[in-house]
Amino acid sequence: MSRTFARMFSLIVILVSIVSMVGCQQAPAASAIPVGIVLPTKSEPRWIQDIASFENNMKAAGYNVEILISELSSATEKTNVESLLTKGIKVLIICPQDADAAAAAADEANKAGVKVISYDRLIRGTTSVDYYVTFDSMAVGAAQAQYLIDKATGKGNPLYLYAGAASDNNAFIFFEGAWEKLQPKIADGTFVIKNSSQAVGLQGNPKLTRDQESQIIGQVTTDWKFDVAKILAEANLTAASKADKGTVFILAPNDGTARSIADAFAADKDVTKYYVTGQDAEKASVQYIIDGKQSMTVWKDTRTLSKGAIDAAIALIKGTALTTSGTYNNGKKDVPALQSPVVTVDKANIKDTLIAGGAFKLTDFTGLQ
Ligand code: BGC
Repeated sequence: MSRTFARMFSLIVILVSIVSMVGCQQAPAASAIPVGIVLPTKSEPRWIQDIASFENNMKAAGYNVEILISELSSATEKTNVESLLTKGIKVLIICPQDADAAAAAADEANKAGVKVISYDRLIRGTTSVDYYVTFDSMAVGAAQAQYLIDKATGKGNPLYLYAGAASDNNAFIFFEGAWEKLQPKIADGTFVIKNSSQAVGLQGNPKLTRDQESQIIGQVTTDWKFDVAKILAEANLTAASKADKGTVFILAPNDGTARSIADAFAADKDVTKYYVTGQDAEKASVQYIIDGKQSMTVWKDTRTLSKGAIDAAIALIKGTALTTSGTYNNGKKDVPALQSPVVTVDKANIKDTLIAGGAFKLTDFTGLQ
């Protein structure tokens, strides 16, 4: 009896060690890199903030992560996704360089059984997007427009419009949010558009179709690039008469382009005062705001956005429920989405928002004490 028991016991021990050896072999694969992240560029401070936020949040959640950068190339983006797929990721978090081109990479991930989270920018034209984490981009455009409206007095104020890259779905949403606010003020004569014949042609429309937005964006795009923004602003100023200048109002889509556009307007002797918008709360722009060279920015806390993406990735890995606050249509699918709020920042509330919120320290800036 006891010999049989001893034999059975050793058999169980052998079986257990075989199972645990197999388990050991599988363990590294399971814990290797469950989440892969692909971001568009390191050449804008905005995305460097996201990288840091992802690294901190993933560490706190106890997950390994690999972050690859597309450096403004859809081809590199696709190679990055393929490289992460070979490493066995379960979830891909991707901010597309080009909304339509990224569909192919999302489809590849989907075919490999990998869940796809569109991050900040929506991938268009594919059903392979499982989730979208974004800021309230309509609110970004609306906040920029409202700022200009609040500063304008009387009628006939010169308005210069600029937009982001036509390949970025967000550029359309920012512009749409701004247009909805600005259009009634253009219609009542408060503002007069000075740098877009397309926008002038459509100024009677309270709402624009995507095609109409495309026509305007095609004329006033910065392509999200500082140099493109600067060259366009200078060309607009060269074409404008002295009467189109004086105190001017500028819708600039983000901080990087706002600084370039602001520099161009500041250099024009016929521009006596300008108001210029922005977004991202980049450090250089916060300093510009303190120095009176940029009027406002819209703070989008990347710590919140990256946390939302990571929570979603973990839920997708574990098969638990995702938190959603609505859907975004990408042309092929209503993508479940989580939308984060944004905050308007100008010189008056930098301390109460960016400093109190821990995004920056007082000592990051000069002239704020
Ligand atoms: C982002 C902005 C950013 C811009 C340029 C947009 O999609 O939402 O925060 O400034 O891209 O990179």
